[in-house]
Amino acid sequence: MANTGPVPQPGILEINAYVPGESAVPGGVTPIKLSSNESPLGPSPKAVAAYKAEAGELHRYPDGAASALRNAIARKYGLDAGRIVCGCGSDELINLIAHAYVGPGEEAIYSEHGFLMYKIATLSSGGTPVSVPEKGYRADVDAILARVSPKTKIVFLANPNNPTGTYLPHEEVRRLHRGLPSGTLLVLDAAYCEYVRRNDYEAGLELVATTNNTVMTRTFSKIYGLAAVRLGWAYCPAAVADVLNRVRGPFNVTAPAIAAGVAAMEDSAHVEAAVAHNEKWLPWVTAEIEKLGLEVTPSVGNFVLIHFPAHKGRRASAADDFLKSRGIIMRRVAAYGLPNCLRMTIGTEDDNRKVIAALSSWLGRS
Ligand SMILES: Cc1ncc(COP(=O)(O)O)c(C=O)c1O
Repeated sequence: MANTGPVPQPGILEINAYVPGESAVPGGVTPIKLSSNESPLGPSPKAVAAYKAEAGELHRYPDGAASALRNAIARKYGLDAGRIVCGCGSDELINLIAHAYVGPGEEAIYSEHGFLMYKIATLSSGGTPVSVPEKGYRADVDAILARVSPKTKIVFLANPNNPTGTYLPHEEVRRLHRGLPSGTLLVLDAAYCEYVRRNDYEAGLELVATTNNTVMTRTFSKIYGLAAVRLGWAYCPAAVADVLNRVRGPFNVTAPAIAAGVAAMEDSAHVEAAVAHNEKWLPWVTAEIEKLGLEVTPSVGNFVLIHFPAHKGRRASAADDFLKSRGIIMRRVAAYGLPNCLRMTIGTEDDNRKVIAALSSWLGRS
């Protein structure tokens, strides 16, 4: 018998491992890191204090039910704590959902430039990922519905989407849901929902409350500035929460993360400050980049997708190299089918001004 060693399950070797945003530049300078949609305001000081206060109890297992955190979330949004499942980042919840609901011979749909974890989670569950073309860098409900078949177990929709920053109005999401069979789970990934300032937007609570096949996922990594602690939550129909609680690790959320999450959830002023910062700088960054002659996809998140010309010397890769030489790290998004774009997180005022100055000198305008 050939000595091949252990062979992984089908699909696993088709996965291109997720490449996180870079965090270092050559030369040892402290970079301006705008590659992971982290909050320029950092975490709430109250969350940091709560995190530190757990240091003396590190020998204890955390509360496996994360009750304090689920109760804090439930209080804040008026939800049933029994239908909230917490995870080690919303990435874990996306993986758990895929593992529980899609397998060999079955499909999960996501949109063309949708968040990469949907494809990875589907492949790692043995399912078949199905990418559906977008229209104008936005998920296309008709195209998604046209692709749904009896094999479709999950439709993943990041709303707003990363890396495009576009969103679907609530009516469109409802139309998408109406067109799905009851056995297909609609996963609304609302990682950036707190940033959205649009009257026609809804993160997903309404659909989760009124249907038995919609799940909404949320994260503490973005507006709450707690990416390092790895914390996310899902609001689910009771039967889905029951399934996720069966497959998750018994202590999948750490005690310091729970404590930080509770304090962050209660510090509304910090979230409001992050929203206000984004409301000021998202339009400013967008307008300044457009003034330089580059196209920006209109974003409702805390980041923008910048389009670069296709000719040599002006491509996204050249811009990225130049920006890095100035200590600025954006995100290359070729893996999302966007080889001529970079994604920039909205930074501090100083970060944003430095980006515009650097892009301007790269384009030879100053
Ligand atoms: C759309 C979307 N969903 C989920 C995540 C994962 O977030 P978390 O840090 O909670 O795992 C991200 C992170 O970039 C994201 O952009």
